[in-house]
Amino acid sequence: MNLIYKACMKASKALIRDFGEIEKLQVSAKGPGDFVTAADKRSEKIIIEELLKAHPDYGVLSEESGEINKNNKNNRWIIDPIDGTLNFLNGIPHFAISIGYEENGEIICGLIFDPIKDEMFFAEKGAGAFLNNSRIRVSNKSKLVDSILITGGPKFDSESKDRIFKEYIHISKKINAPIRKFGSAALDIAYVASGRFDGYWQWDLKYWDIAAGLIILKEAGGFVDFLDSSEKNSIKKNIIATNSKIHQDLQSLLLKKNIE
Ligand code: IPD
Ligand code: CA
Ligand code: CA
Repeated sequence: MNLIYKACMKASKALIRDFGEIEKLQVSAKGPGDFVTAADKRSEKIIIEELLKAHPDYGVLSEESGEINKNNKNNRWIIDPIDGTLNFLNGIPHFAISIGYEENGEIICGLIFDPIKDEMFFAEKGAGAFLNNSRIRVSNKSKLVDSILITGGPKFDSESKDRIFKEYIHISKKINAPIRKFGSAALDIAYVASGRFDGYWQWDLKYWDIAAGLIILKEAGGFVDFLDSSEKNSIKKNIIATNSKIHQDLQSLLLKKNIE
């Protein structure tokens, strides 16, 4: 945990600085696209360098670099250097660094840091989940009708976009509850873990979007399910993550076949 904390803090300094540049670039002719790609890569490089300095033989799965030390199946870091890139690119202060650490296929600890709001969500197996210095717990709501939900986007092919839109309408009709889209899967899960939202779902996520979130939510008393069990071991994930109390209800709504 100390190690991923240090790596994250180092990368976040660069990220905060880079985010400060975005506003200027937005009005420039070229726009901030290339700059953001470079910021993403820079953040990832800092994190990976810091981590590998301590354990050169550990595995890494990261959004930009892919896999490093592929053969180490026992110890692996899963990294998303900026989750919420589209927000970052548009100067919207809602994005995070996400780092999870996995041992023998199980996430043991993880951290999600929102550098602009200075909110660090973290958890270690068996030791509870925290937001900065305070212990966090999922919400206590048990009825979907009282819930507030969050879901994601925006990178979908035309087929899944259609499916997600239908699903969104279906759920909105069924439950008289608000649904938000904030644009960072890592923070979406962290917000369920800290009781801000009661449930989250999304298709076609990548493992680095959620790896750290899995342990944080679990340690906060929440529950994560993979909507398609055949995908449990693949990088691609369809998930539903809740406070556990509304899980069954949300899941049966999402899995209903007759969505029109
Ligand atoms: C994206 C964000 C977004 C989610 C997308 C992800 P990125 O990650 O987590 O909320 O809906 O599916 O790809 O590209 O910003 O790292
Ligand atoms: Ca991501
Ligand atoms: Ca990313």
